[in-house]
Amino acid sequence: MMTANEIRESYKRFFEQRGHKIVPSAPMVIKDDPTLMFTNAGMNQWKDIILGTADPEPRRRADSQKCLRVSGKHNDLEEVGHDTYHHTMFEMLGNWSFGDYFKREAIDYAWEYLVDVLHLDPADLYVTVFEGSPEEGIARDDEAAACWAKHLPATHIIDGNKHDNFWEMGDTGPCGPCSEIHLDSRSPEEKQQTPGQDLVNKDHPQVIEIWNIVFMQFNRRSDGTLDKLPMHVIDTGMGFERLVRALQGKTSNYDTDIFQPVIQEIARLSGKSYGKDEKIDVAMRVVADHLRAVAFSIADGQLPGNAKAGYVIRRILRRAVRYAYTFLDQKSAFIYKLLPVFIREMGEAYPELQAQRELIGRVIKEEEDSFLRTLEKGIGLLNDEMSRLRAEQKTTLDGRQAFRLFDTYGFPLDLTELICRENGFSVDAQQFDAEMQQQKQRARNAAVVENSDWTVLHEGEQTFVGYDYTEYECRILRYRQVTQKKSSHYELVLDHTPFYGEMGGQVGDSGVLVNEEETIDILDTKRENNQSIHIVKNLPKNPSAPFMACVDTDKRAASAANHTATHLLDYALKQVLGPHVEQKGSLVSPDTLRFDFSHFQKVTDEELRQVERLVNELIRQDLPLDEHRNLPLDQAREMGAVALFGEKYGDTVRVVRFGPSCEFCGGIHAASTGRIGFFKITSESSVAAGIRRVEALTGSRCEEAIYLLEDTLRDVRSFFNNAKDLKAVVERYIQEHDAMRKDLERLSAQAVERLKAQLLEHAQTVGELRVVKAVLPIEADQAKNLVFKLREAMPQQLVCVIGSTAGEKPLLSIMLSDDVVKAHQLNAGTIVREAAKLIRGGGGGQPHYATAGGKDLDALPAAVDKAIEEILHLS
Ligand code: ALA
Repeated sequence: MMTANEIRESYKRFFEQRGHKIVPSAPMVIKDDPTLMFTNAGMNQWKDIILGTADPEPRRRADSQKCLRVSGKHNDLEEVGHDTYHHTMFEMLGNWSFGDYFKREAIDYAWEYLVDVLHLDPADLYVTVFEGSPEEGIARDDEAAACWAKHLPATHIIDGNKHDNFWEMGDTGPCGPCSEIHLDSRSPEEKQQTPGQDLVNKDHPQVIEIWNIVFMQFNRRSDGTLDKLPMHVIDTGMGFERLVRALQGKTSNYDTDIFQPVIQEIARLSGKSYGKDEKIDVAMRVVADHLRAVAFSIADGQLPGNAKAGYVIRRILRRAVRYAYTFLDQKSAFIYKLLPVFIREMGEAYPELQAQRELIGRVIKEEEDSFLRTLEKGIGLLNDEMSRLRAEQKTTLDGRQAFRLFDTYGFPLDLTELICRENGFSVDAQQFDAEMQQQKQRARNAAVVENSDWTVLHEGEQTFVGYDYTEYECRILRYRQVTQKKSSHYELVLDHTPFYGEMGGQVGDSGVLVNEEETIDILDTKRENNQSIHIVKNLPKNPSAPFMACVDTDKRAASAANHTATHLLDYALKQVLGPHVEQKGSLVSPDTLRFDFSHFQKVTDEELRQVERLVNELIRQDLPLDEHRNLPLDQAREMGAVALFGEKYGDTVRVVRFGPSCEFCGGIHAASTGRIGFFKITSESSVAAGIRRVEALTGSRCEEAIYLLEDTLRDVRSFFNNAKDLKAVVERYIQEHDAMRKDLERLSAQAVERLKAQLLEHAQTVGELRVVKAVLPIEADQAKNLVFKLREAMPQQLVCVIGSTAGEKPLLSIMLSDDVVKAHQLNAGTIVREAAKLIRGGGGGQPHYATAGGKDLDALPAAVDKAIEEILHLS
């Protein structure tokens, strides 16, 4: 039996022997395509080639691609775990032809590989072809059907509709009719009973699609219409996990050697077994699947977070935690413990997992810990809610409460239902759904961004000239309007542009588009599909005219210096802290720079100093920029250039070197390190488990920061008569201040003691009661101390009302001994509120002690009398 690793290899060898270049998987997390967050198909990384905007050579390629289908058009999340053949993260084996072979060869290759190489039984294979779509003007795919007819009888060739047989990457983008290959792996008896063709695309767990061959012919525009692609493209995708399952003779993907080691580890750690109880099995499958998605995503540089891709990853991990918590009884962090086994199995094919194992473990554990704390809080809330329902003799939890638990505490409905059921309650699921719909609608209303289609003024593609120029003659190739909520702007693509689009942490350029007629501000530049997209508020009056595109050079120079400083910082951190330092994010703007990196404890002040010294030393050496624009990838690696995990690199790369610092980088840099001027770290902090952040300033921004410090220091020194040794003087002041505060406290306590003695001496007896009243020039805290001391000294029969006047603020304090409160049902709070009206104030407190502040100092004696009167009246 072939192992999973052997099957992956055999696919690559088969296509390599047929002239395909074997390429690495692109990162799973996508960084410069606003239409996609994650790679959801092998073809994503070739989108530019398919649309005709990138070089198609070599025209035959093949790979195994890490994919994630958890958002957008292709979303399998809710199925995962409940069936045995969907996954969040999966591997897709693919072969491509960009304007080389088309339907016949693609079909023949697929057939040959499955039947001749892997020895699948043709009797178990079914294929589908597109039935056509009259409304889109596309006929049935007779050509594909004829190609299949060479290999299969007519009963194994099935027409399929647009949903199954017209593949689209997303709402817009490359698309075309497709042929799917389905495998029937049921028992002979079952096959006898129902023919396989009746079960194709019917969600039967043993009759499943394994390979999709797409004949890319169109590009879907945002208005829904189709454009013809510049060339015919073959795009195939075979579900690796499903193929392995078929070849290993299993009925579930989770029974293959891709998943079993991790599932067995889950069983060992949780003390439960797989294959006995469906609920436990689902939970184990969820955990085994989601672990892969999350670990690969972190290795690709995408940490769990609060927004966008980070939030998707967080939700996947939380789904796994919930299942482990509910069905595997794991009440503390657990999933991270599976990593050693997972990485042992996958680390060879995907070295990025191996290299970042410590970081992946820390991040997952911290996420688990924090979500488990939230879960506990939510469960507490749910318990309170159920007690209330019990008291009110109700049995149904309000759907709004269930939704609140979902929204704030991440409790999905099934968890709330489970806990409720265990306690004899049901949940109003309908109302929950209604709340959910409302929220979705709110989100939709807030987020709709509408892009019009591009208006093409001149055909052609963009050339970026920004490494060499800051001004360049240009024309607008195309533009579109983008509307969000009520505001709108335009996006322009120029034929030549010196404008750098935001990428790799460096913010986009701003500047102007100018000719004799007009000047248009370019507010920002984004990067999309390898092009700079210029953002302008309004279109030029004559968009077809030639312009000069001029970058704001002050900002550009400041950004460039900051970018170069970031490289030096990366180098210095590795030198000072060790080679485990990996860049995990950066932000480079004209004003500041920020650098996130893996490191597992706080960077000490001493280490930060060392880093600063090293960077400034490299600045003083004025190292020139040594730039290599089109270096073959292997050569770049040989140079020792630092690459980033999760970054997509082509066959050739740009390498930027300043002395010992050498990195893969597409950014704009200073001509030499001397241009940075000076480098100063302003903060060091933690952003996530195992990730630290350093913020720093360079050049004139540093100067300003230093002036600010100097000014502050000068001001402080002037407070101390321009003392020479400021530190010693301030230290002495602090000591003196502390000593004086202690003295003051002591004196104040003595004063209170004295007052207490005097007041007790002059206490009046009224019936059973001992009445103490006075108006004193003391502070609020002294008044409080005083009345408590009086109560201590006279624990019975005490009626005490004190007015205090310090700071011109009248304060009324009432203290009663407990026997007085009890005997006469008194409430000092009510009395103080009534009396405080005289001083135009208010307050409150407990039955035995209450206070009230006010505005009218002169009325304080009257208020004291009033309170006493009231108490005596009630007693
Ligand atoms: N792009 C096709 C798919 O993902 C092959 O199914």
